[in-house]
Amino acid sequence: MNTRIALTLALMIPATLAFADDRSSAQTALLAASCANCHGTDGKLAGAIPAIASRPATALESQLLDFKHDEQTRATVMPRIAKGYSDEELKALAQYFSNIDAASKQR
Ligand code: HEC
Repeated sequence: MNTRIALTLALMIPATLAFADDRSSAQTALLAASCANCHGTDGKLAGAIPAIASRPATALESQLLDFKHDEQTRATVMPRIAKGYSDEELKALAQYFSNIDAASKQR
């Protein structure tokens, strides 16, 4: 094999791996975009609907699973919404909103 082709291929491998990571966080950002309608951009709405940014991921995840499995009886819309996601997606969403710094300016 020509050295130049071998070098090009070697340089492409890390780029491909980095792309795989970007894509999964981009996919979570895409899932999270539908939450922004009610919870505000980045989950920081200060109004009747609770802000969800920067809460502990485990707490958010357990709330979302409670909604999904109808264990939060006072909720209105979240049980319907949570049912549309797999447990893994809810975990990823909990992580996503947990990682947002609530104190930083709303985008
Ligand atoms: C149609 C509006 C709407 C959308 C869209 C929505 N939510 Fe909610 N969310 C609410 C409301 C209203 C509540 C309060 C509980 C209830 O009445 O269901 C809530 C509560 C929550 C809570 C509990 C917060 C607390 O302090 O009790 C979490 C966590 C949450 N939502 C996460 C999400 C996530 C993640 C998404 C996107 C997958 C999302 N929500 C999309 C309206 C919405």
